[in-house]
Amino acid sequence: MAAIRVASSSFTIRASTLPSSSFSSSYSNFSASVFTKFEFGLSWRGMRMAHSITRAALGLTQPKQIDPPKIAFSAKEIDLVEWKGDILAVGVTEKDMERDENSAFKNVILQKLDLHLGGLLSETSSEEDFTGKAGQSTVLRLPGVGSKRVGLIGLGGASARTAYRSLGESVAAAAKSSRASNVAITLASSEGIAAELKPSTASAIATGAILGTFDDNRFKSESKKPALQSIDILGLGIGPEIDKKLKYAEDVCSGIILGKELVNAPANVLTPGVLAEEATRIASDHSDVFTVKILDEEQCKELKMGSFLAVGAASCNPPHFIHLCYKPPGGTVRTKLALVGKGLTFDCGGYNIKTGPGCMIELMKFDMGGSAAVLGAAKSLGKIKPDGVEVHFIVAACENMISGTGMRPGDILTASNGKTIEIDIGHTNILDLDKGINYKVNNTDAEGRLTLADALVYACNQGAEKIVDLATLTGACIVALGPSIAGVFTPSDDLAEEMSRASENSGEKLWRLPLEEAYWESMKSGVADMVNTGGRQGGAITAALFLKQFVDEKVQWMHIDMAGPVWNDKKKSATGFGVSTLVEWVIKNSS
Ligand code: BES
Ligand code: MN
Ligand code: ZN
Repeated sequence: MAAIRVASSSFTIRASTLPSSSFSSSYSNFSASVFTKFEFGLSWRGMRMAHSITRAALGLTQPKQIDPPKIAFSAKEIDLVEWKGDILAVGVTEKDMERDENSAFKNVILQKLDLHLGGLLSETSSEEDFTGKAGQSTVLRLPGVGSKRVGLIGLGGASARTAYRSLGESVAAAAKSSRASNVAITLASSEGIAAELKPSTASAIATGAILGTFDDNRFKSESKKPALQSIDILGLGIGPEIDKKLKYAEDVCSGIILGKELVNAPANVLTPGVLAEEATRIASDHSDVFTVKILDEEQCKELKMGSFLAVGAASCNPPHFIHLCYKPPGGTVRTKLALVGKGLTFDCGGYNIKTGPGCMIELMKFDMGGSAAVLGAAKSLGKIKPDGVEVHFIVAACENMISGTGMRPGDILTASNGKTIEIDIGHTNILDLDKGINYKVNNTDAEGRLTLADALVYACNQGAEKIVDLATLTGACIVALGPSIAGVFTPSDDLAEEMSRASENSGEKLWRLPLEEAYWESMKSGVADMVNTGGRQGGAITAALFLKQFVDEKVQWMHIDMAGPVWNDKKKSATGFGVSTLVEWVIKNSS
């Protein structure tokens, strides 16, 4: 039984004893080694533990260990016609492509390059009707010249940060298709960019190149290693400023890639326990700034997290409550923040199972996208190490499944702040319009808010002054804002302003929606303090109002519903949404 006691005691570590890997891919191996500790557990709890670890390998799938793309970036100031390597890529706007009356380029860089290439550039771009529009590109193979290939990549009209990121992505794509390993990137009109904006232009290009090079091949039996090894950035200056920005881009990308991997991993591989191991690994990789605490079911019960535990109660994979804490290297803390992420490693809906067309049950491995954003941000911040700010990363991780031990519609739960919740639909908001067509709203399926309730109470108890939660919370938010914009809810105009500025830098799209108090009417219960589910109308708003019940009024709080942007339907892959905005925001709160 001793082994079981180990399992159910929390551990706070300045982890240096844990296996440290440069990447997350080995998590299943880690759980296999934990398994041996529980093998002989005889109690029901022990059985469930043993079972859960076995479940981590359901289907016998182990992610392959693949290192993330490691590209060496250097800012250089050399003449581009002197550069030698596989591809010289030039970002051009539509204006850069203008010609004079002799059909020569007006832009001096293009003029020079064209001269060097004997007019090939102007010839091909006319032939291929390359006008510099965003998304256009043309790559020339050039035997006998210092650069094996020269590419023109269209930036479109405006020179926005997103255009520079796309430039990096296009270059990564060109490098992939020609198996290029050394690449240079420059802009035809880099001299037109203000000096103070050059470093961030370079970092946007680098971000695009890293993320464009990354393919999540961990679950494919065969895959090629990316060939791209180095990128020289020409014409955007040299020195510590640009080097710092390039390093920042790499650090943020490593968190985005972790976020993508966590979301892409299927639910049979990424169980709540494995997610907890991932958090532990972040702490062990950056033990100078992180401590981690993982609470098991028993300890969550002691903290009276009845709302969270009810959601995980049906699953063989037990819930894990994750609390990762960042303390700045300097020691002085001026601001305390908390980032709370929804961590449903799978959401089948529970007894109100997801069945209808478009319910997306097959995609519900992504229902831990909020926690992926939070842990991805933690990984990046562990590398960046901002000063003056303490950050708590909190995830109530579990699986919403069906079994005899699961919560039922009609059950009443008690959250850790003492408030009671009836698992039922609110009726007052249902109009005639809804009758007949699917007017019922699934109530055991409104589970994310139940897990977040206890996580938010816990975050408030850490003394956080500002709390941001991220969650794939409602289909209603996708209906409202579509697949690429996240909904933001907050009573604080200041926090809304801070986050809006952070998202301008990250390029991730947020849109503020109202916390309309009048809609709380639909969340009233006859027998408990509230129900968990409002009507269909304004579903993203009633969900946010529910969360608000679990946040101290003196705390500045924001809820981000990222149900849409967590997933890229076209690429059938996770986006890593949230990581870069959170990192920007934490850094803005640091000193
Ligand atoms: N995880 C879902 C939300 C979701 C649905 C995200 C589709 C992405 C795509 C969440 O737990 C859920 O099921 N929400 C319900 C709430 C409803 C029962 C009030 C929904 O949106 O249908
Ligand atoms: Mn659900
Ligand atoms: Zn869910």
